[in-house]
Amino acid sequence: MHVLTVLDHPDPESFTASAARSFMAGVEAVGHSVELADLNAEGFDPRWSLADIEADGGGAVPPDVQKEQARLARADAVCLVFPLFWWGMPSMTKGWVDRVWSWGWAYDQLDDPEISLQRPRSGILLVAAGVRSDEMAAGGYLSALETAWIKGTFGYFGFSPRKLEVLYGTKGPLSRRKSLLDQCYRAGYELPAPAAYARRDG
Ligand SMILES: Cc1cc2nc3c(=O)[nH]c(=O)nc-3n(C[C@H](O)[C@H](O)[C@H](O)COP(=O)(O)O)c2cc1C
Repeated sequence: MHVLTVLDHPDPESFTASAARSFMAGVEAVGHSVELADLNAEGFDPRWSLADIEADGGGAVPPDVQKEQARLARADAVCLVFPLFWWGMPSMTKGWVDRVWSWGWAYDQLDDPEISLQRPRSGILLVAAGVRSDEMAAGGYLSALETAWIKGTFGYFGFSPRKLEVLYGTKGPLSRRKSLLDQCYRAGYELPAPAAYARRDG
């Protein structure tokens, strides 16, 4: 498989950047090929613009969106790695999703979140969070994100199978962060094939 990792963090020394590197190491250990979209380092513009609206209506697709769509087109699996900000995506990731997974390219209907214009791709979200897992569940945040992202967003984009892995307690001791990085490596190593491939094999 060819696996695209989309990283959102401005600091290459951050936990989030380390999480992306650990995931890619796991992917490479199985023999898959990797590609990194480092959105901050590359200066991706997350602002939804008039050009994006015109593209939705049949106009030219902005070149930066075309570049990201080409990356996605050659990927069999996609991993988004970002820190949890106010129980949601940071603005860079949010803007990348808004602009790149566009109407007419990724989806064109609104009533079935299991149908996409895109072929099935294995999808995983590795989300770094300061909170503990019990606080996250008790507050209802985990089920809210499962609903918004896994049920409500990434099916439209053809992610199948798809999974949310929250990396809890990133501000904890070194041993904690080390075990979270092991979790990321395993997520890469055990990354499932896209649904269509699984069906063909079966
Ligand atoms: C603006 C901002 C909002 C945040 N919101 C949340 C939040 O809603 N829930 C949470 O668990 N952590 C939250 N955090 C903590 C980040 O998730 C945490 O800093 C991150 O997991 C650590 O990753 P890093 O060291 O790579 O920056 C927030 C941090 C910032 C800067």
